[in-house]
Amino acid sequence: MTTPPPLSVSGCPMLHGAAFATQPQAVYEQLRAQGPAGWAEIAPGVHALVVTQHRAAITLLNDTSTYSKDSRRWAALANGDIPEDSPVLGMMAWRPSVLYTDGQEHARLRWAMDNCIARISPHRLREITQRSALTLIARIIGQGRADLMSDFADILPMLVFAELLGCPPEKTSRMVRACQDLISAGPEAAKGAADFAGLLFELIQLRRAQPGQDLTSWMINHAAELTDQEATNQLFCAVGAGIIPVAACTAWTLYLLLRDDEYAGDLAAGTLTVRRALEKALWERAPMANFSVHYARYDTYLHSAYVPAGVPVLISHAAANTDPALPKDLGYDNRSHLAWSAGPHRCPAISQATTIVQTGVETVLDQLWDMELTSPGPKPLLRHGPFHQCPQTLPVRFRPKSPDRLPVNALAGGSS
Ligand code: HEM
Repeated sequence: MTTPPPLSVSGCPMLHGAAFATQPQAVYEQLRAQGPAGWAEIAPGVHALVVTQHRAAITLLNDTSTYSKDSRRWAALANGDIPEDSPVLGMMAWRPSVLYTDGQEHARLRWAMDNCIARISPHRLREITQRSALTLIARIIGQGRADLMSDFADILPMLVFAELLGCPPEKTSRMVRACQDLISAGPEAAKGAADFAGLLFELIQLRRAQPGQDLTSWMINHAAELTDQEATNQLFCAVGAGIIPVAACTAWTLYLLLRDDEYAGDLAAGTLTVRRALEKALWERAPMANFSVHYARYDTYLHSAYVPAGVPVLISHAAANTDPALPKDLGYDNRSHLAWSAGPHRCPAISQATTIVQTGVETVLDQLWDMELTSPGPKPLLRHGPFHQCPQTLPVRFRPKSPDRLPVNALAGGSS
């Protein structure tokens, strides 16, 4: 029998720290015992309600008259009760972007976001992803071993975003470094966020002078007439919302393909197999595990759970997807999972995210077809923190190969 995870000083289950990273499902069980939503500590001294029931999550995500995304309603933050250096502020503090707005303001910012994302050509996205993946594979192919997390899955979305944003090649490594700090959830995170916002601001100035076919140019020239501050925050939001979930989803898809007997010997089968593993990863290991933060506009009940106004209410996409009340025979092709959330703030980049993950996974499997996992434990350890479900490392070994075998044309221009 596994020991239950420890409770915080206030007696709430802890949605952060080493115990949560080791046994997330045990913490979700403790939350389920409280009803459709339960109290959790999401960082030292920070408390929130967390919705674990699939049905209640759908109700909340579609009820915009009761719930708001505007984190200026967060009473504890407004009262100065949240530590200034709390690691959750980077994701939860208000910014003028789609993520934190409601109603007409959200519709205006979402219009710009949807239009800009829709302008990314699927063909070009596949080409950029494949070239970026090959650039990363070239660095490890001769070594015979790699950590697919730090050597591949983490960096791939950063390279792809740098190019989609129209970042000049000489600024790409600076952008990757800023993103690495930003996602570290450590003391460098605040510096990474500031560096990245600064870089986006420079990009906006550059693309005002020299417009191109890129997300930055499209965002600043959109008919919604965003201010520079709004455009910076919109782009910050797209990258901030995109890089870790794409990295996590790439890692889980690879993990399932390399670990599961279900796929053994079937890796050469290609796209269909990768797609099946990706859908399974979205159901079983929602990359954005707990997020979609809302605030009740007034004291209310979510099904049987009491929800006071001004308290952050997180949706546990991970717990809702594994809700024991869901029919057992849903199947992974069924799209009722909440990995992309639901309602007006549902992820606007589902097909783009899927393309990056799928192309990245196919490219690395093509080149390192004989790789196998070398992690000692039965399950990868997760990164700490409440929001993402992401392995810390994904060590693999394979027979070393010459970088000369990589398609050279695909690599042309792909540097970081
Ligand atoms: C596997 C990868 C991804 C997953 C699992 C994922 C998941 C999610 C989830 C759960 C939300 C809801 C967040 C909330 O309401 O607070 C969301 C929103 C969002 N995502 Fe994604 N996402 C992924 C990739 C991406 C990518 C690549 C982009 C950018 C191109 C992106 C852009 C956004 C934006 C802008 C929002 C905010 C939408 C709004 O508030 O209206 N996501 N995503």
